[in-house]
Amino acid sequence: MKKILSVVGARPQFIKLAALSPELRRCFIEKIVHTGQHYDVDMSQSFFDELHIPKPDYNLEVGSGKPCWQMGTMMMRLEEIVEKEKPDCMVVFGDTNSTAAAAIVAARYSIRLAHVEAGLREFDKSIPEETNKLITDSLADFYFCPSETGVKNLRDMGIHNQVYNVGDVMIDLLVHYREKINKNDTLLSIYGVEKGNYVFMTCHRAANTDDSEKLREILSVLADIPLEVIFAMHPRTMRAIELSGFEKMLVLPHVKVVPPMGYLDSQTLIHHASFVLTDSGGVTKEAYFHRVQGILLDTQTEWVETIEEGWNIQCGPNRSKILKAIEHLQKPSKHSDFLGEGNASKKITEILLEGLR
Ligand code: UD1
Ligand code: UDP
Repeated sequence: MKKILSVVGARPQFIKLAALSPELRRCFIEKIVHTGQHYDVDMSQSFFDELHIPKPDYNLEVGSGKPCWQMGTMMMRLEEIVEKEKPDCMVVFGDTNSTAAAAIVAARYSIRLAHVEAGLREFDKSIPEETNKLITDSLADFYFCPSETGVKNLRDMGIHNQVYNVGDVMIDLLVHYREKINKNDTLLSIYGVEKGNYVFMTCHRAANTDDSEKLREILSVLADIPLEVIFAMHPRTMRAIELSGFEKMLVLPHVKVVPPMGYLDSQTLIHHASFVLTDSGGVTKEAYFHRVQGILLDTQTEWVETIEEGWNIQCGPNRSKILKAIEHLQKPSKHSDFLGEGNASKKITEILLEGLR
């Protein structure tokens, strides 16, 4: 059997791995490397436990730091493992620093590289994730796009070989857990909210958290939201709020700030929300899947179809745009399910089985 090294490091990558790993393990020897980019229990271990992801074979324990230090440390530590394991292929997910660092190591060791969630673009190189996407897609051998847009973007870059629209692996997981997610009504009473009558919020983009004016603008919206708000707070955002002294902006009777929550609970809360307020790529497309509208706090998104169909409204960190969008929310009639039917992981595995033969 061929050997695959799956490299993950951040919350959304654990979730993507939870979908893909069981399929890969039917046909390959899979070894998992956790870079340690995310390390808090509720940002990492809790997903491995809840989603039954196999324990990583290696943890690089890199932790937080400046981006080049972080990526350089990941590369040095990953190099040792690659020399030892000699995998036939490395699989990377999305667009984090862990993704790009692993892509460079694969290239330097001439190991075939599979990119899950390939081809997406935000067309703004000031966004760290955009450069991670560009690095990874320049080096990949197998491109697993979640949508036709990914295929088109790669074609525009002159990349045509081994490009596949397989759908999104996160949809696989949503389909798999659909019953559990939709029927978990007791969760709403724990949070003291009613179906369709609250907002689910997340925020963690560097552009929104590291600029205290933008952060203040986003937080200032909270006071004017006419519904209960559940704000699942990323540690980066909590730190930024503390550094800027904005804690008081969260003290509102209708706002519940909670630590990062588990996957199934967050899905249930998205599913029953009136709308989501987010700059998370994952939450953007999950809300679309649940047919819940989203107001996007970032200025760019790679999930352009969700905007075109009217499910998400791109406001950026702009108070008046956000409040106007909330006032005029209206569910669109079109929903194309452009992210596939939930069999992306199977398709990826079949293609790799053939391609690595
Ligand atoms: C990273 C990814 C982003 C992804 C997000 C998912 C990059 C450039 N960014 O952003 O694309 O959307 O993960 O959540 O790779 N921290 C903790 N505990 C943790 C992890 C982080 O306290 O377990 C804090 C640290 O202060 C750290 C900060 O969060 O400095 C940022 O973490 P980092 O992994 O650098 O970036 P994210 O914002 O999490
Ligand atoms: N998520 C979660 N708990 C939370 C917030 C988000 O499980 O408290 C899930 C979310 O539903 C999605 C994934 O984490 O599946 C997205 O991760 P994140 O927002 O950190 O990163 P992004 O998708 O923006 O890269």
